[in-house]
Amino acid sequence: MYTPDNGKIWLATGSERVYLDPAMANRHGLIAGATGTGKTVTLKVVAESFSEMGVPVFIADIKGDVSGMCVPGCENKHIRRSIDTMGIENFDYTSFPVRFFDVYGRLGHPVRTTISEMGPDLLGRLLNLTDVQNGVLRIVFRIADDQGLLLLDLKDLRSMLQYVADNAGEYKIKYGNVTPQSVGAIQRALLTLEDEGGDIFFGEPALDISDWFDWAQDGRAVMNILECCELFQHPLLYSTFLLWMLTELYELLPEAGDLDKPKIAFFFDEAHLLFKDAPRALIEKVEQVVRLIRSKGVSVWFITQNPMDIPESVLAQIGNRIQHALRAYTPNEQKAIRAAARSFRVNAAFDTEAVLQELATGEALVSVLDEKGVPGVVQRANILPPKSSMSAVEPAVIGTVIANSPLCAKYANAVDRESAFEILTAAAEEAQKQAQAEAEAREREKQRAAEEKQKAAEKKAKEQAKAKKKTGSSRRASPVEKAAASAMSSIGREVGRQLVRGFFGTLKK
Ligand SMILES: Nc1ncnc2c1ncn2[C@@H]1O[C@H](COP(=O)(O)OP(=O)(O)OP(=O)(O)O)[C@@H](O)[C@H]1O
Ligand SMILES: [Mg+2]
Repeated sequence: MYTPDNGKIWLATGSERVYLDPAMANRHGLIAGATGTGKTVTLKVVAESFSEMGVPVFIADIKGDVSGMCVPGCENKHIRRSIDTMGIENFDYTSFPVRFFDVYGRLGHPVRTTISEMGPDLLGRLLNLTDVQNGVLRIVFRIADDQGLLLLDLKDLRSMLQYVADNAGEYKIKYGNVTPQSVGAIQRALLTLEDEGGDIFFGEPALDISDWFDWAQDGRAVMNILECCELFQHPLLYSTFLLWMLTELYELLPEAGDLDKPKIAFFFDEAHLLFKDAPRALIEKVEQVVRLIRSKGVSVWFITQNPMDIPESVLAQIGNRIQHALRAYTPNEQKAIRAAARSFRVNAAFDTEAVLQELATGEALVSVLDEKGVPGVVQRANILPPKSSMSAVEPAVIGTVIANSPLCAKYANAVDRESAFEILTAAAEEAQKQAQAEAEAREREKQRAAEEKQKAAEKKAKEQAKAKKKTGSSRRASPVEKAAASAMSSIGREVGRQLVRGFFGTLKK
């Protein structure tokens, strides 16, 4: 165990040892550096220490190399040298309790969520909607929420959109205007999302974030690894999904105040994607969630190549920084180096800007918060070696971990319970049946009228036929509405409550 008796996490060694104070971990962390400089290994070292302290972690694994944490590491020259020069006693190569998750269900428990749970704000971002279209989407969610209609998957959302569009006149006064153009645009965006495979993660059983909080028998906390190799091919899907998880954590956890260690650590790899092309309002929301989640005991770690890719307002929330080497080939890169150097408290022993460019692999500039929350003077230090394997494991190994996981049965099979699509389809079918029955009745009536017509005077017979036709048409619309309304109230009873939305428009539990 790296954690010495002072209860802190031994992170790196330079002219002296550098410790991360777990009580300050909820002031978040940044691991930055050019490609191949050691970011993922640093992430592993921090995550291993959290697990050993009983703090569960969540890690997005983009290259598959985090998966190695389920097997012990093995000796190499670099690690041997670190162990000797840093004076690490009793270093043991060991595996960690790992759970694998995968949106595509191949290299982990399938991760799904429902449209209702994701909410209109995040979905609007995913669909790349304009402000007006976002407004319409919000109205559609409001109507579904108010009626207790569940939107589980994309086909539910499609039927709900269609239903609201068909009955736009009725909802206009209470909810606002829903134009066919906006609904059409949203439907088209849904098609694009489907084409990109985005429909795969909408459905049930939805991921229950509380499953992340689990411990092995030896007291070490589980590491929840989300395999993202494929998800990462769709950056918008990837970043929205991770943001959704963060907001779910926010909704799940109660206020915790100051803790001696975080309740969970969340590692967000390639974090710059969250902010790429993001509208101002979204950046503000992210800044807000990062700030607020602190008092719930969540430690968020952003991993990115260039710290300048993260907005200043978010960067300002990050107290603990591990900066690996940066390269300066272009004027922009030189600017990034100056900015990164300026973000540290100067150490009189060296020139931060110069050292940033000459750091070796596994070496970093480190600054952590002291117990008063003040950033320490920057240290040049070598990050400790990880105890688990630094490389990716074979899919077969992951398969064994999945098969032995207690979550296997819970998430293995998708279910499709009754929701908006089924209800509205049934309502429409019922309405169609009724309309057909009515049409048949009218036809019979017409025939009878025709027979009577022969008996009665020609003028009188004409008037009769006209009157019957009129009563028929005024009745036509009502069964459709009645069927839809009764279906709505029946699902309303099934759900048993109005759906309430919290921060970010995600569903309140
Ligand atoms: N602390 C360390 N101890 C021992 N070896 C290390 C350490 N850090 C990095 N290395 C070595 O450097 C290699 C590259 O590190 P790593 O994969 O963490 O880089 P990265 O910054 O995540 O790269 P990328 O941006 O490509 O993901 C590792 O495979 C390992 O061999
Ligand atoms: Mg990496």
